[in-house]
Amino acid sequence: MSRLFGDVCDSVSDPYLRRACRLAERGRGTTSPNPVVGCVLVRDGRVVGEGWHERAGGPHAEAVALASAGDAARGSTAYVTLEPCAHVGRTPSCASALIEAGVGRAVIGTSDPHTLARGGAEMLSHAGVEVEFADDPAPFNELITEWLHFASTGTPFVRVKVALSLDGHSTLVPGSPSRISGREASALTMRLRSEADAVMVGVATALSDDPALTVRGDDGSAAARQPRRVLLGRASQPPASLRMLHDGAGVVTLLAPEGVPTEPMLARLVDTRSYALSDGLAGALNVLGGSGVVSLLVEAGPRLLTALYDGALIDELVLVHGGGMAGTSAPDLYLGADGATGSLAKPLHVVDAGRCGADAVTVWRPDEEGTYRAGTDRS
Ligand SMILES: NC(=O)c1ccc[n+]([C@@H]2O[C@H](COP(=O)([O-])OP(=O)(O)OC[C@H]3O[C@@H](n4cnc5c(N)ncnc54)[C@H](OP(=O)(O)O)[C@@H]3O)[C@@H](O)[C@H]2O)c1
Repeated sequence: MSRLFGDVCDSVSDPYLRRACRLAERGRGTTSPNPVVGCVLVRDGRVVGEGWHERAGGPHAEAVALASAGDAARGSTAYVTLEPCAHVGRTPSCASALIEAGVGRAVIGTSDPHTLARGGAEMLSHAGVEVEFADDPAPFNELITEWLHFASTGTPFVRVKVALSLDGHSTLVPGSPSRISGREASALTMRLRSEADAVMVGVATALSDDPALTVRGDDGSAAARQPRRVLLGRASQPPASLRMLHDGAGVVTLLAPEGVPTEPMLARLVDTRSYALSDGLAGALNVLGGSGVVSLLVEAGPRLLTALYDGALIDELVLVHGGGMAGTSAPDLYLGADGATGSLAKPLHVVDAGRCGADAVTVWRPDEEGTYRAGTDRS
């Protein structure tokens, strides 16, 4: 299961939980570092209130639903996609708000693993609220898969997107931008960017393609919310002339190993973050996690894709298969270590597939344990 094609909420059998799931989706792209959550309040077979978490720092889904129900919340059943939080943060605890409003029963999509917030179901039970969990938490987990990953690891969920020619190359002519996929695939890229906290490319790709990495509409207009742009380099420095450094479309982070001096011009233009070279790419991702990046989209060329794959750092791989042939002079997609032949032992497996205009899209993830290779990071 992935969210790229189809609707995860479709598989939810309870109609009120399904509605809560659809409401949760409305917050996609604006709630980070919080998860998307939806809530429906039902009394005597009638929806008396509903809400979703719209943005971090704003009211939680339960609070919005309670406010819309007013007194009608008393004696109602709350259908909520994620276990109501038990802690008081920027907003009051949702479990206590439901108790105070006199909600009699809570039906919960999936439990909250977060050390700070979990315990809401127990709190509700102690207060005499009847608590039930959905028979199948899978669609509710999928709804917040990036956040669940971040909550348990502290590192961003890494979604890698690569466009491929029919003969399996991601670059047609080395050193220059390649048009591999069509217009609909560009719209898919925009959607992936809009749902990510940050979009990352290697400095080599920035040098060759000079991408904007922004979210734009069909007419080219910039979206109101832009993800952070990240340039990853080890030794190479991006030139200060890169378009993303001057377009005013939001923060650009330069992520480089400690000790690599940043050119003074760049230091003025970008937010520079460093990681220990010995920690490799995993260390670089940790640094992004530490700065609040829950979901990361990597638009990778062959070298970055190889390093992420070998380091078992890919949480989802989105391959866009275009219909043209690149030919044998194009660089391979997987470069491997010297003499390495890749790994077929623990492959990624396909979780979703679909058509995108004239192109085909496949979505791949690691197995259940999250591992597909015991590889090492070769930074
Ligand atoms: N088809 C697609 O979807 C797609 C997407 C992106 C790019 N591309 C194409 O890919 C080509 C560039 O590919 P590429 O393989 O040369 O570059 P790349 O994928 O951008 O990866 C290499 C870059 O990442 C940096 N990097 C940082 N840590 C690394 C690590 N541990 N391992 C490897 N690299 C690391 C490298 O820094 P240092 O230079 O300091 O070593 C280098 O700048 C371009 O022609 C571009 O058009 C295609």
